[in-house]
Amino acid sequence: MRMPLCVGNWKMFGTLAEARPLATGVRDGLRRTKDVETVLCPPFTALQAVGEILAGSSVVLGAQNCHPEPSGAHTGEIAPPMLTELGCRYVILGHSERRREVGETDELINRKTRAALAHGLTPILCVGETAEERRQGLTFTTVEGQLRAGLAEVPAEAIAGVVLAYEPVWAIGTGANATPSQAAEVHGYLRGLLSELASKDAAGAIRIVYGGSVKGENAELLAAESEIDGALVGGASLNAQGFVTIVKKTARAGAVRGN
Ligand code: PGA
Repeated sequence: MRMPLCVGNWKMFGTLAEARPLATGVRDGLRRTKDVETVLCPPFTALQAVGEILAGSSVVLGAQNCHPEPSGAHTGEIAPPMLTELGCRYVILGHSERRREVGETDELINRKTRAALAHGLTPILCVGETAEERRQGLTFTTVEGQLRAGLAEVPAEAIAGVVLAYEPVWAIGTGANATPSQAAEVHGYLRGLLSELASKDAAGAIRIVYGGSVKGENAELLAAESEIDGALVGGASLNAQGFVTIVKKTARAGAVRGN
């Protein structure tokens, strides 16, 4: 059984005045929720404050990006050891906003993935096709290319330590989520590739979460699919109550699935 996972990606939202009550609300709202792992990924500037709020709770800390080098002359960048020092356990890599806005390549994302693993951070490796790619029937080709490149030279044993996020670009921030069956189809395809790249056992244990307009209204149906192991949530993670609802629904669907 794979433990369901819900990740809140706050993106570039959250001054400390906003981040503190949001993290507190999520922590308190999930005090009695079991059978799900929850990760909050605030902006770098709020990691320490959010980490202090989450300390001792079941909600863990993640970051939205990292540099592939452990230190060096890279103005404005954040290295993996700086994240682990603050208590981060996860890091989102290869998000489509970074691929598009700052031109992150598969090669760079691969270096970041290997660096994260080397420093004990679990990469949440994002893949996903654009609307145009889907229209042209290139969904599988796109995600396969991103997955193979992202995991290049990662030893088979280490692949088991990765989380994948399938995030169709057309579904991010648009309100139009992939249907549960559209997402499940791609997740199944990715899992097949993982069994080739790692092993069948590893592929069966790796969590593949879905991201793109996940909200309270669709979280349960998405997580009811046996291939969908949880959610990477952007916009809807900025409201504590709303995010708590998503996590609880994901946990409930996961528990039903497990029976
Ligand atoms: P969204 O973003 O939930 O706002 O669509 C998801 C993401 O970009 O991770």
